[in-house]
Amino acid sequence: MRRVAVCPGSFDPITLGHLDIIKRASQLFDKVIVLISVNAAKVPSFTTTERMAMIEAVTHGFDNVVIDILDGLLADYVKNVGAIAIVKGLRAVSDFEYEFQMALANKKLYAGAETIFLTTSAENMYLSSSVVKQIASFGGDISHFVPECVHEVIKNRLVKE
Ligand code: PNS
Repeated sequence: MRRVAVCPGSFDPITLGHLDIIKRASQLFDKVIVLISVNAAKVPSFTTTERMAMIEAVTHGFDNVVIDILDGLLADYVKNVGAIAIVKGLRAVSDFEYEFQMALANKKLYAGAETIFLTTSAENMYLSSSVVKQIASFGGDISHFVPECVHEVIKNRLVKE
């Protein structure tokens, strides 16, 4: 049986923290679907096409990782593709309540998959897409936070004139 996991997120943009979780998930499952999803609480800075291109560039070498876009409910998608897990990274206690709520809601909507939390690597504890966007918008150095091949795309898009 092929064990499929879904890594959902806004990925606006993808960071080294996301990449670390995707890489580790790809070692645990036969196939990982990185799923660009809509977070109703956020207005994205990058289009889904831009986010997809960035994820494609940084996951290029991972044989069992594919990318998809969702404009609907995560639980429905997970059920439709026969995934057994939703994999998310957990950074700090501050993430917990929100992630716990989503995990419980998703389990209620579709009991066939478990949400699995991977503890973020220590160096990515403080890292988030919003932090990256703030630094980039003021012309700061984002090289410690996002994969090199997407630096330019992010800078060109966000640096204030
Ligand atoms: O990277 P984010 O913004 O923290 O990811 C949150 C995301 C996009 C995974 C979440 O908002 C989501 O699952 N959206 C899809 C729509 C959905 O199923 N919402 C209900 C979740 S309980």
